[in-house]
Order: sequence, then structure tokens, then C-alpha cells
Amino acid sequence: VAQFSFSKAGEMGRDTVGQSDVRRELERTRRLLSFLSDNAREAVVVLQGGTVRFCNARAAELSGLPASQLIGSAFRDFVHPDDLPFVEATHERRLKGEDVPRSYVLRVRDQSGAFRWLELSASLVEWEGSPAVLAFFADISERLRTEERLREGNERFRLLFEQARDATYISTREGRFVDVNPSMLRLFGYDQGEMRALGLADVCAEPLECRTFLAAVERNGFVDDHAMKVRRKDGRLVDCLVSATVRRSADGAVAGYQGLVRDVSEKRLAYERLQEVFIDLVETTARMMETVDPYTAEHQRRVARIADMVGRKLGFDDERLQGLYIGAMLHDIGKLAVPVTILTKPGRLTANEWNLLRSHPVRGHEILNEASFPWPVADMALSHHERLDGSGYPHGLRGEQLQLEVLILGACDVLEAMSSFRPYRPALARDVVVSELREGRAVRYSAEVIDVLLELIAHDGIALGVTYGTVPGGL
Ligand SMILES: [Fe+2]
Repeated sequence: VAQFSFSKAGEMGRDTVGQSDVRRELERTRRLLSFLSDNAREAVVVLQGGTVRFCNARAAELSGLPASQLIGSAFRDFVHPDDLPFVEATHERRLKGEDVPRSYVLRVRDQSGAFRWLELSASLVEWEGSPAVLAFFADISERLRTEERLREGNERFRLLFEQARDATYISTREGRFVDVNPSMLRLFGYDQGEMRALGLADVCAEPLECRTFLAAVERNGFVDDHAMKVRRKDGRLVDCLVSATVRRSADGAVAGYQGLVRDVSEKRLAYERLQEVFIDLVETTARMMETVDPYTAEHQRRVARIADMVGRKLGFDDERLQGLYIGAMLHDIGKLAVPVTILTKPGRLTANEWNLLRSHPVRGHEILNEASFPWPVADMALSHHERLDGSGYPHGLRGEQLQLEVLILGACDVLEAMSSFRPYRPALARDVVVSELREGRAVRYSAEVIDVLLELIAHDGIALGVTYGTVPGGL
């Protein structure tokens, strides 16, 4: 029960204070009360016996009635029928001094017939000598609508999250999982509870990899498709692409991360199989030359192996090494257009025959240029007889015009050709080969490539003086 009462003037200190003092005091209290209630954002109503005995401007505004009309109205006429039993019962019990909730939510109708959600806070007071209820009403319709929209929005996101085919997670800043979706549980083989006890660092196969990833997310605000191996509950490693974005709290501080984990192990396997098939196809194409010209077929295989060794020494990545290998494997394919009698002629070639033989780089380029290789394979065929000093053919290109793949192939081609048996001459001795490379270093051949080749020869990485056909599979 409230500690104050709204009393009739006559009841205030009749015997101790003079009438005029009482009136002044009463007038002051009324003005203060009316100032407070008229400026309150909440509706203020005094109810007695179910009837409105007092209301402020806001209460009149909410009801759609002038204050003079609202006062004297029955409160029940404004309450939504579904809320009425509870409202009336609570009102009765409050008047009897029983313990009832001080505050609750109800629907109240205005003159247009529309209902609003109001939050009521009520206290038992004394009004003109009798018990009454002083009630404050706050209009919370807008707040409820906003909450409803938020809830709907949250539900939609929840649905997206739950049904996403990609494994999706929300984690703390330290990387511990707060929430993960069913796809994530399937990918890792854990249940939600087990998953929440873990973090990205626990499921990442390489802890260092995880730290690098999280640092990059923090630095850039996001990371897309970071390749990462993750470990399932059963111990199996899965190749994944992980993406994450920083999640911020209202004050802009990093609250954690949200991320996606995409299982790419099958795609990767398929890609690797496709690559194997592709290399097989290239090797098959190169083998086709065997039926026409066994020397050239074997020569291409050996050059490809040496070029691969050089590429590795020069720090080529797997992608570039593959291009180098394929380019070397097919560099003499243009010889298919040269009569086999010329290719295998034991004696000296006539000028005409030489010209035909020397057309093979251009013919090779014509063949390979049709295919859209992501590597300079056609250029390697075209330019493998070009030399740094412009003394090569077919275009007499020099220096800067020759890319590294071409320079590697050019030097490996010479090395292999000299050290192998040819129908018109035996294999040349190791000394002869080495001195040709030394003399041509930085003149006809790239110094960088020659240095690698000489090192390989010195350490028996490349065996010289092996005659074709005697060491199958050897250089
Ligand atoms: Fe050639």
C-alpha cells in the first residue's frame, strides 16, 4: 500500500493549522500533481470501484476521449475482452490488499476501436478517504512490434543457419565454438555439447595454421577460403576451406567470429584424379611419337625429367612445375610433321632437309597453340631452339624475350641431345657436354639454368654418357 493519500482539504490538520494555510498548501499540492501528471509520458489514472476518478492528459490521449469524459467512465469498457477476467480479478484483489503483481501487460481500446499494448504499474492508494488504485500505463505497442520483427528476423536467420549446407559456426574471440549448425556437427562427427567444449584450434590439424588464420581475421576483419586440414572426432583428416568474419559488439569491440567450413576433400580428390588423367594424356600423346620416331619420344621424356629437376632447384611451385614438365614432354611434337626419313637419317642432311627439320618448332607451336593450356607450353615448343645471344631459330629472339621456362627447356634440350646417341653420331663424352654448357653460360644459355645443370651433373643428379636404349627409365 502506497505511503501517500489524496485527501479532502477539510481532513488536513483541521485543528492545528489555519484554514488559509491549509488551502494554500492544498493548492500547491494540486498544482504540483497536475504539473507532474500532465507532463508525464505515462498515462496516470486513479480507479475507484472500477470507475476512472482521475486521469492525466496522456491517459485522455490514449483513450481518445477528453479528460472530462474519461473521468467517470468504467475502466472495463476499455479493456480487451480476453484480458478482462485477469484485470478485474487482480484489481479486486489489489483493493483487498492481497499480494498481486504490481505490474503487468494488457490490451486497451481507444475510441477508434484499436487496441494497444500497455504496461500497467499499479499501487493501492487512498483517494478522498477510500481505497483506490493509482495506475501508470506505458504504451509498449511499438516496443512489442520491434521485438516481434526482431524475433521474426532472428527466426529467419536461425532457419538459414540450421539448414545451411555449409558447416557454419559462431565462436568467441578465443575461437571457442558458441553455436554450430547441423552441417558442422555432421562434418566433425561431434554433438552440439561436445562441439561447444572445443575451439577452432582443437579441430585444426595444424595449430600454427589456426593461429595464422585467426590473426588474419582479426587484422583484416575477414578471411575467405583459407585452406585448412581439420580433424574429425574419429581422427580422420578432412581438407577444408575456412572463411570467417569478425563479430562486433554494440561498442565496436571484437566479440568473436562467425565462419564457414567447406569440405573440399572430394573436390580435391576429383581434381587430383583429373590432373593424373591429364598428365597420362600428355604422356600418351608424347608416346605416340615413338611409333614414328623413338629417339624423339625418349628424348622428350628425358628432357622433361631434367627440366623438372631444374624447376625444383629454382623454387618453382607445383603448378609451374607441372607446366614445365608438360611443355618439355611435348616440345618436339612438331617433328610429327617432319618426314621420318629425315628424322632417322644416319648421314648428313641436305640444306632442304635441314630446313624441314628446323620447321618443327613452328609446327609444334601450331599444334599446341590450339589447346588452351594455362602454361606457356606452345611458346616452349616454339622457342626452345632460341638462344640468349639471338643465334637461335626460328625467330632469332634474344635475352629478355625468352621466358624462364623456355630458357630451362633450351639448355636441358641441348644437354640431353648431346649426351644421347643419335643415328648420325654417338653420344658425346661428358667433358664435351660440360664444356659446351660452360662456354654457352650467359652467352647462349641462361647462367642461372646452367649453374643448376652443372651442379646436378657434378653431384650425379644427371648421369651423362648413357646411350639411348641401354638404361630403360634412366636419363
Ligand atoms: Fe627440338
